Parts: sequence; C-alpha cells; structure tokens
Amino acid sequence: MTPGRPRILVSGGTGFLGDAVRPLLEAFADVTLISRKQPGCLRADLAKWDGGLAPETLRGKFDVFLHMAGLYDLRATKREAHTQNVVGTHTALTITQKAEIPHFVHISTVAVAMSAGTAPIARTDQLESLRTFPDAYSETKAAAEQMVRTWSSPHLRSRLILRPGVLVGDQREGKIHRIDGPYHAAEGLRKLLRIASLLPGPLPLPGRADRFMPIVPVDVAADAIARLVELAWGDQWEGLRCLHLAPAKGLSSQELYTSTLRHLGHEGQEFILMSRLPDWLVKPAAELLVRFPQEELEYLLNFPRYDTRETEAILGANWCPEFRDFEKEFWRGYEAFVSHR
Ligand SMILES: NC(=O)c1ccc[n+]([C@@H]2O[C@H](COP(=O)([O-])OP(=O)(O)OC[C@H]3O[C@@H](n4cnc5c(N)ncnc54)[C@H](OP(=O)(O)O)[C@@H]3O)[C@@H](O)[C@H]2O)c1
Repeated sequence: MTPGRPRILVSGGTGFLGDAVRPLLEAFADVTLISRKQPGCLRADLAKWDGGLAPETLRGKFDVFLHMAGLYDLRATKREAHTQNVVGTHTALTITQKAEIPHFVHISTVAVAMSAGTAPIARTDQLESLRTFPDAYSETKAAAEQMVRTWSSPHLRSRLILRPGVLVGDQREGKIHRIDGPYHAAEGLRKLLRIASLLPGPLPLPGRADRFMPIVPVDVAADAIARLVELAWGDQWEGLRCLHLAPAKGLSSQELYTSTLRHLGHEGQEFILMSRLPDWLVKPAAELLVRFPQEELEYLLNFPRYDTRETEAILGANWCPEFRDFEKEFWRGYEAFVSHR
C-alpha cells in the first residue's frame, strides 16, 4: 500500500451521490471539490474549456480525480445532456492530463448497457455505443464512458469506471432530493388508483416478469465508491477496470408494485404486467390525470441483469442489500419528501 493520505480532486461532490461520498473520502484523503457555485470549493464549470481553470497550475497536486459530475435527467434535451455528460467528461480528462493526475475514477451508470432483448446479463465490457438509446441521458453517458475507455496520456496509470444502478434514498432514513427511478411507480399508481374502479379486471401496469431494477441505496453506492477509490490508489491499480455497482438480483416489477400498493393502502388490488400499457388506458389516464410517468416506468422496468461477480470479489458477496432489506426506509424517505413539496 502507498503510505500517507491521497490527494483527491472531486467533481460532482455537491450532488445527491456526492453528499454521501464526500464524508467517506475525507476519512482517509485530502479532498478538493470542484463546483460551479458552492462556496469553499474550487470554482470550475466543466462545460467550459479547461473548466475555466488553469489546469497546469494544478500539476503534481493530486493523486486521483474522482469524476462524478453529470446531468441525471431522463427528460433532458440532447444538447443539455451532451454538454454536461460528454463535454464535462472531456474537460475532466483534460484537467487530469494537464495536471498529471495518475488515477482517474469515472462514475458512469448501468444505463450505458441496457441491452434489453439482446443479452440477458450485461457484462462490464459491454457498451452500447451503436445502439439506439431510449433517452439522451443514457446515450451521452455511454459516449462519456467510451471516451474514458479510449483516453490515453503518459501520466495516466489507471482508469476505473464504476456503473452505479438506480440510486434511491439511504438505508437509514431513505432521504431523497427528488422523485426519480422507482418512486415514479408510487406517483403513477397514486393517480391510476383514482380510476381503478372504472376499469374492467385487474389493473394493467407496465413491466415484464423477467426484468429486475438494479436499485442501490445512495449510502451503499457511496461506500463502494470510497472503498474502490482507496483501493485503486493504495494498491496502485494499473490500466482499465470497469465494475457494476448493482445488486446481485434487483427489484422485480411484481415486487415493486406489490410493495407500492401495500404502502398506498391498496394491498388487495389485483394487477397484470404488460410490456406496454395499452393506448385505451394511457390516453384517458393522461387526460384525466394530467400525466402518467409511462416513459420513465417503461425505461426503469427494462433493465437486464448486471454481472456483479468482480465487484463481489473485491467488496464481498453482501456489499449491496436487496430491496426487502431497506423497504421500510425507502417508503419513509418517499413520504418525508412528498409531505414537504
Ligand atoms: N442518481 C442516480 O440514480 C444515478 C445513477 C447512476 C449514476 N449516476 C451518476 O452519478 C453522478 C451524480 O449523480 P447525482 O444524482 O448525484 O446528480 P446531482 O444530484 O444532479 O448532482 C450533480 C453534480 O454534478 C455537478 N455538476 C454538474 N454539472 C457540472 C459542471 N458543468 N461543472 C462542474 N460540476 C458540475 C454538480 O455540482 P455543482 O452544482 O455544485 O456545480 C453536482 O455536484 C452522475 O454522473 C450520474 O450520471 C446517478
């Protein structure tokens, strides 16, 4: 192991994931955060040339660049997503090169390897740069990851790509900053249940029995990231490595809806899974209920399984809990969020 504390330059350290990662890094490293606006940080905008920094002045000052900055929004325009995810990653790599930082850790996403319908288990060397993506977020994150994979510079010793699953509230309180991911099921069902009695038979819901959502509590993902950054630096990893930060099994559509209906007080409500909601339901639902988050749900319910063997070999078999282990806290965090909006 390399002695002493590593000096880590961190982007994205002020966001949902970053808030959870930061204190864990500070326990073993000297941390400098990059932010566009947060006081006390190195002021930089990765959408700008060189981030608006003079990266040469940072030469020799950092051992690791942990790049978490990005735009996670399934409804972002292509231009916004490209600027934050592709240009932002290019700038982060350029700073790494000009500042001669030897280790680069990139936070990607499982969405870069959706592979629905082709391979049932996504490998870590799988990147669908030629496929049609469901949204600009996935497409631009895949382009960013591709750039990290092919980037070379004489001072860069290791590139570690981490692909977190869909992040949800932490295991203790379930605290969230916004509604995304599986929380859309609760939003959609709350609305749909208002017209459930008008529909014949069981409630049709989007989903497939053979798909599992790779959800990960944000504190669990943060702990994995901090441990892997410490290992990559301490053991002086070389070359390229890519790991999925996802649970071994994940949350099935059946489990998600059963839990959501129970939480909403409709435990007995019958439902059937459909790969697409029929138009006869979507149209009146959209008119009656303003908006049903159909696209988000269809996206979220189409993930393949992810190969997590290497992650488990490094972090241990039980590093990531399954939904049933934090179900109560998940709903507590959702209720705390919706009661304050
Ligand atoms: N949330 C998820 O479910 C999820 C799942 C898988 C992967 N990820 C990935 O994890 C990363 C963080 O996601 P998050 O949910 O924590 O996002 P978030 O809460 O929206 O935070 C975004 C972070 O990125 C920084 N940032 C954005 N644009 C920047 C720019 N132009 N220059 C400098 N900093 C910039 C922001 O810093 P300032 O605002 O302080 O400048 C902030 O710290 C992203 O790369 C995302 O793709 C997220």
